[in-house]
Amino acid sequence: MHVSHLTLHDFRSYPALELPLEPGVNVFVGRNGQGKTNLVEAIDYLSRLASHRVASDAPLIRAGAERAVVRAAVVRDGRTAVLEVELNPGRANRARVNRSVLPAPAT
Ligand SMILES: Nc1ncnc2c1ncn2[C@@H]1O[C@H](COP(=O)(O)OP(=O)(O)OP(=O)(O)O)[C@@H](O)[C@H]1O
Ligand SMILES: [Mg+2]
Repeated sequence: MHVSHLTLHDFRSYPALELPLEPGVNVFVGRNGQGKTNLVEAIDYLSRLASHRVASDAPLIRAGAERAVVRAAVVRDGRTAVLEVELNPGRANRARVNRSVLPAPAT
């Protein structure tokens, strides 16, 4: 399985990002604080949807923004799925797979 595309809205330092990714190793090069780890964190967050804790999400939302969205296209056996989470501080987050809303995770 690989992530073929990452979309961010108001996640950490990114107002809006559209990032195509290749199968295999992808290398992010940039200055200190430019946002490399933020990219990895976004993908990590999506991969652990069911175990996140709402209380700790606020720092993930770009300063001054109301919510954040992390969306990734993932390819497995030639098939693409779109995973998305909307982070709403103080309210329930919303996860979607292929645009269908998932039930809230059990805590
Ligand atoms: N919620 C937020 N709102 C706005 N900016 C944020 C937020 N969270 C983090 N940042 C900014 O993101 C930047 C850090 O990004 P990141 O850690 O991804 O950098 P990096 O490229 O990995 O740097 P390094 O090379 O030092 O590891 C900092 O400038 C920080 O101010
Ligand atoms: Mg870093």
